[in-house]
Amino acid sequence: MEAPQSKFRVVIVGGSIAGLTLAHGLLRNNIDFVVLESRDDIAPQVGASISINPNGSRIFDQIGVFDEIRDLVEPLRQEEIWSDSGKLITRSVDLRLVSERLGYPAMFLDRQAVLAILYKHLGAAQSRVLLNKKVTEVDHLPEKVVVHCADNTTFEGDLVVGADGVRSTIRYRMWDYMETRGLIRETAEERKRMKSEYNCVFGIAEPTPGLVSGMLYRTYGEGYSLLVISSKHGRVYYFFFAKMDKVYTGNDTPQYSQADLEEQVAKYLGKPVTGTVPFSEVIQRTVTQTMVPLEEALFKHWCMDRFVCIGDSIHKMTPNLGQGGMCAIESAASLANSLATLVVHDASEGKNISASSSSSISVDEIHRCLKNWEAARLARIPTVYAGSRDLTRIEALASPKYKFIAFYILPYFGSYLLDLNCLMMTGSVKLDCEPAPARSLQCTMAYTDSYPQTSADKAWKRALKVAPLVACYAAASATMGAVVQKTMPYLIKQIAQGTWMASNGEVINLTEPIYHVQFLDNLLGPMALCFLPSISGSDPQSRLQMLSFMTDLSPVYGIWLLESLRNSESWYKVLLPITAGIASQFCGIGMIAPLYFAVEYIATPLSRILPGHNRIIDPSTTGALLVSLLGSYNLITYANFIPRAIETRHWYNAIWQLFPVTLPLLQLPIALLARRLFPRPPPADPDAKTKIQRRNIRTVRFFYRTLALVSGLTFIYTRFTKPQGTPMASLFFPGLTEHLAPVTSFSQGITLALQYDQLMSVASGFVWLALRFRELKERQESRSEATFSWWKAVGACAASTFALGPGATFALGWGWREEMLEQLAVSMQSGGSGHLAEGEVVMQGGK
Ligand SMILES: Cc1cc2nc3c(=O)[nH]c(=O)nc-3n(C[C@H](O)[C@H](O)[C@H](O)COP(=O)(O)OP(=O)(O)OC[C@H]3O[C@@H](n4cnc5c(N)ncnc54)[C@H](O)[C@@H]3O)c2cc1C
Ligand SMILES: *[C@@H]1O[C@H](CO)[C@@H](O)[C@H](O)[C@H]1NC(C)=O
Ligand SMILES: *[C@@H]1O[C@H](CO)[C@@H](O)[C@H](O)[C@H]1NC(C)=O
Ligand SMILES: *[C@@H]1O[C@H](CO)[C@@H](O)[C@H](O)[C@H]1NC(C)=O
Ligand SMILES: *[C@@H]1O[C@H](CO)[C@@H](O)[C@H](O)[C@H]1NC(C)=O
Repeated sequence: MEAPQSKFRVVIVGGSIAGLTLAHGLLRNNIDFVVLESRDDIAPQVGASISINPNGSRIFDQIGVFDEIRDLVEPLRQEEIWSDSGKLITRSVDLRLVSERLGYPAMFLDRQAVLAILYKHLGAAQSRVLLNKKVTEVDHLPEKVVVHCADNTTFEGDLVVGADGVRSTIRYRMWDYMETRGLIRETAEERKRMKSEYNCVFGIAEPTPGLVSGMLYRTYGEGYSLLVISSKHGRVYYFFFAKMDKVYTGNDTPQYSQADLEEQVAKYLGKPVTGTVPFSEVIQRTVTQTMVPLEEALFKHWCMDRFVCIGDSIHKMTPNLGQGGMCAIESAASLANSLATLVVHDASEGKNISASSSSSISVDEIHRCLKNWEAARLARIPTVYAGSRDLTRIEALASPKYKFIAFYILPYFGSYLLDLNCLMMTGSVKLDCEPAPARSLQCTMAYTDSYPQTSADKAWKRALKVAPLVACYAAASATMGAVVQKTMPYLIKQIAQGTWMASNGEVINLTEPIYHVQFLDNLLGPMALCFLPSISGSDPQSRLQMLSFMTDLSPVYGIWLLESLRNSESWYKVLLPITAGIASQFCGIGMIAPLYFAVEYIATPLSRILPGHNRIIDPSTTGALLVSLLGSYNLITYANFIPRAIETRHWYNAIWQLFPVTLPLLQLPIALLARRLFPRPPPADPDAKTKIQRRNIRTVRFFYRTLALVSGLTFIYTRFTKPQGTPMASLFFPGLTEHLAPVTSFSQGITLALQYDQLMSVASGFVWLALRFRELKERQESRSEATFSWWKAVGACAASTFALGPGATFALGWGWREEMLEQLAVSMQSGGSGHLAEGEVVMQGGK
């Protein structure tokens, strides 16, 4: 099944993490390569270990080495941070969450083992990995590179990749070449970039009593820090970091002997690994150890013509964050992806790649392709690099600032940091030529590239579909806007008059402050005045319309908030509904709702909500929102209508005006409390995922049904209490041409405007639901699953609006969508995603 291979040939210098991962990537893209490694052993035991994070595991899963690696480790469970005096500073969140969220556990093992497994799985391509090949020189010719080794052998290729670590020969040759191309200043800057400020003694030790398998221990001290991991069967990996006497650059960087190492360690033997285990206990059981300076550098130029560098050779970071190896893997995999597009491009131009004697890709094409790759890498790596740099200094309490962070900030943000880290990992790369592994599709935080965007997800296509909402907005401004314009003079007159008289003779003093905050009184006083005609009961019909309308706003605003609180969204997304809510209080929800719904629809395609647990809303959030809606919003709404004194009703209305802000503020503490009272199932629980899903849909169900019930009952109440002889429709529908007629009084104008307000917000809500149903229906059809019928949906909507009113119908419609969403998401997770269902999905196994 050997496919025709491109003549494009890559010479990889260095056969470690970066080099071997790239070899796998090129192998899977049928690109020719050779790996030149200077050592005589592909996987030497030098005491080094490596942490493997889920996004690296996903690539390892793609190339079939994950299972073997997984068998060697004890997944990390928790982290403890100790102080120099042996006091526990903090214990981290449950790291098993990582595996639930991203499909793969956080792991730590011998780097030697990883290299051996990577090499073994190259299979027949092992013959392309050559040992004892120390590269010394590179000739860059217009049509190829010639790589010279110390044993006088030479290798030719189209491209040379420097995966040769921190003292990279290829990087130096690239700089020499850059100088010949006139990049003198740039090269001089690069040459000065590498610095070392810390050194590190790292090693592997036999099981040490007192250290628990699956635990990671850190110790923060002045000028030093310790990192100790206990993995499978208690095997211990340790790192001892210490600040050097000065910052070294380039050539004066020290090299350490065994004597240096022993002298260094001796000074710190009494330092605590945990409260009960001193460092000496670990050192006594050492199997192998090494001392190195920790170079740090993030270079700006990663490639030039036929030269490119990956891994430590171009981004060398401190190991405290454990990301160096993961970044090397990411750079290797993404380089393989980029080279694949270059070579495919070559083949698609009609050239017979299997027959032509050498690759026809010009040096300019290669350079352009690599520059694009470099730009993409440089958009992602600097954050990780800075994170590693800072963590080293925080752990070594390098300055008062870092000390403050170590003791007073980090301990309280453990779960926030974990969230952030997981989120960053979802944006990682994989090999494009291989499908997403099944394991990576079943996790709760979906990788952004797991479910490729369909054309229906494109923002401009969605923007076209919101045309009916734009029409709603236009209709709202033509009707409601016109009426408000005409009512304005009456409103101004009323304010100037300073009082308002209800039909029962009660007089409200409008100049008297309600909020006792000048700013709020000026801003919201006129708004509260606009509600007086209906809440005072001067106009009995308007009173009933408003009672039902204001009640219906609770499911509407509740749903706006919930949509922004799904797992897929960052917390700041909640500012969208809050802003829309505030704007609605001033401009009328009839004007704002169409805009809000349009933005929400364009910004949140189904592909964003469906994968993993993206759709899920923390049950404590949903529950707390329901409690605060019923307990604050609905009660205050009824208080607008019930008390005998109009003055009291006016006062409650003033409170009601604040709900877009007060409601979320009230919801937050209740949600935090609920999270305490009903903690999520621990990640060790094998049913955790199902339990979370079930809890989510149950709370959502309770939410929409309760609000539908309240709205429905209120609507039925208006039906039974309306003045005899008035048809129900006349409460809610203004006449067709009413907005053209002149306004005759303040209360008549206000009544009319509020009718339009309700009509337009209801119309846009139903349009939005229809758009959401259509997108679900399309997705179901593409997976040939049962779909619903439009006739039934429209019929149900009409019947429900007639019987229960628009608010209850909106809540039930949204609830129906949630139920369908849940079904679809669950079936996608059990059966692969839509596009993978077509037989592409293969379990990557150890076979
Ligand atoms: C103390 C320490 C602890 C670390 N801990 C972690 C960790 O916990 N987690 C993590 O993710 N990362 C860790 N790292 C970093 C991680 O080991 C590296 O990021 C990773 O190995 C980088 O891989 P690489 O292939 O780029 O370079 P290297 O692993 O350095 O490999 C370079 C290879 O090139 C070969 N080579 C060099 N020169 C030549 C030449 N002229 N010709 C031919 N071959 C050559 C070398 O022999 C070597 O095999 C740690 C690093 C250090 C120093
Ligand atoms: C490589 O070539 C040089 C010069 O021709 C020679 O001196 C050296 O011995 C050769 N080395 C090997 C390993 O063959
Ligand atoms: C995984 O994510 C981390 C953190 O964002 C990043 O540093 C690393 O390069 C990623 N690795 C891979 C293989 O994508
Ligand atoms: C392409 O290569 C194949 C196999 O090597 C050969 O049979 C065929 O004739 C070639 N086609 C062209 C257009 O050169
Ligand atoms: C209304 O209240 C203001 C301030 O409390 C007061 O100055 C004014 O006289 C009152 N007007 C009437 C008509 O009661």
